[in-house]
Amino acid sequence: MKICVVGIGYVGLVTAACLAEAGNNVVCVDNDDKRIKGLENEKIPIYEPGLTELVKHNRRLNRLHFTTRLKVGVDESRIIFLAVGTPSTQDGSPDMSAILSVAGDIAACLSDYRIIVTKSTVPVGTHHKITDLIRSKSDVAFDYVSNPEFLKEGAAVEDFMSPDRIIIGTTNPTVQKTMKRLYSPFMRRSNRIIFMDPASAEMTKYAANAMLATRISFINEISILCEKLGADVELVRLGLGSDSRIGPAFLFPGVGYGGSCLPKDIRALIHVGHEHGVEMKLIESVQEVNRISHERFVERIIEYFGGQVGETVLAVWGLAFKSKTDDVRESPALYCVRKLLDSKMKIRAYDPEAGSAANSALKGRIEIVKNGYDALDNADALVIFTDWQEFRNPDFELIAKKLKKAVIFDGRNLYDPYMVKNAGIEYHSIGRKTRFPKERPKTT
Ligand SMILES: NC(=O)c1ccc[n+]([C@@H]2O[C@H](COP(=O)([O-])OP(=O)(O)OC[C@H]3O[C@@H](n4cnc5c(N)ncnc54)[C@H](O)[C@@H]3O)[C@@H](O)[C@H]2O)c1
Repeated sequence: MKICVVGIGYVGLVTAACLAEAGNNVVCVDNDDKRIKGLENEKIPIYEPGLTELVKHNRRLNRLHFTTRLKVGVDESRIIFLAVGTPSTQDGSPDMSAILSVAGDIAACLSDYRIIVTKSTVPVGTHHKITDLIRSKSDVAFDYVSNPEFLKEGAAVEDFMSPDRIIIGTTNPTVQKTMKRLYSPFMRRSNRIIFMDPASAEMTKYAANAMLATRISFINEISILCEKLGADVELVRLGLGSDSRIGPAFLFPGVGYGGSCLPKDIRALIHVGHEHGVEMKLIESVQEVNRISHERFVERIIEYFGGQVGETVLAVWGLAFKSKTDDVRESPALYCVRKLLDSKMKIRAYDPEAGSAANSALKGRIEIVKNGYDALDNADALVIFTDWQEFRNPDFELIAKKLKKAVIFDGRNLYDPYMVKNAGIEYHSIGRKTRFPKERPKTT
């Protein structure tokens, strides 16, 4: 099939590359000239495992094309995907300017029937807004599909190739058939396409993100209580997640959720609730618990260093909002680092992929190093914000030797507290005691 994808960011580029890999001819359109020029030279603008190989492979087979000219994409395709950003505005509602402007520009280019598909996360009712807008500017026939994306950064290619489900929001049977054909290469294990009306498809995306955020805030709230009562949240998590009605996913205690989706989609859901006179009490609490999760972690570090924060140097491991991505949008790490900088601490940080993005977001206020162990030299403590694989089994003796004071603040509960203690390191994690006996208590 001939496809156009507009907005070549995390979602757009992954969608385009995976659809090309399935044999489709895909034109990628973005208004960022630098991004498109780079992609034409196989310079991939984001870090996403497996993506570079896919882009290069499909470029070579002439199935993936890049342009800044929307008309080229619209003319040369039958299905047009919209994957531009919908960031938060001041009042929490999503900024719809990019998607509405692209929809208007598509209307101006339409000369023949097209299927227009929204992948961006957009509020319920956007299907009306976009169809009305296009109809007001063009007489050419088109159909509209709401097809929200559920991929996770860090596993985006894998998620696209083998999705848990595909939501197709259209009630038109002919369009359903076309969309089913397009997605059938990714359904070989079993059919996981769910058809519904566009409003329900739009709502499903927000409901899914709200549920994920709820689970994270839930375990973080339980972890506070665990600390107070002497329980270990890691054991509680295991016991909880092994209930088949609950399951283990998204129940990892930590410094809180972040990224380009959960925080903004939670704000959007609260906003739309208020607009329609619905109090979103649970979701508002989820948001508040997340803020508390960030704050508690920072406060714990500041309190620990008491009066001498001005002389404190912290080694930081991890700046991305989670592992396997270079994305630092609304990263809890950046939130906490800014607070630590405001309290006059100095930061020397390492992240396997997100160093440069974090450096520009923080306007050069921290030192970025190229190796995790280099960050430790003469630092007063190690602080961990991101669950990168390479942080999971470090050389604790070297950490203890390099740090001025052997102490770790772990915002992801990466380590066995007994192992850290045995290396002579003081260990502060989430929802667990700080003081441990020398030996692990026998439980069996
Ligand atoms: N990132 C994720 O993990 C994820 C997952 C699921 C859904 N989403 C949703 O998908 C959408 C895109 O997210 P993203 O993270 O890929 O965003 P992004 O910021 O990485 O990419 C957006 C791209 O759109 C381009 N763009 C903006 N205006 C344009 C215009 N007028 N014409 C052409 N191109 C334009 C930008 O240059 C950029 O390359 C958002 O609505 C987001 O909520 C994101």
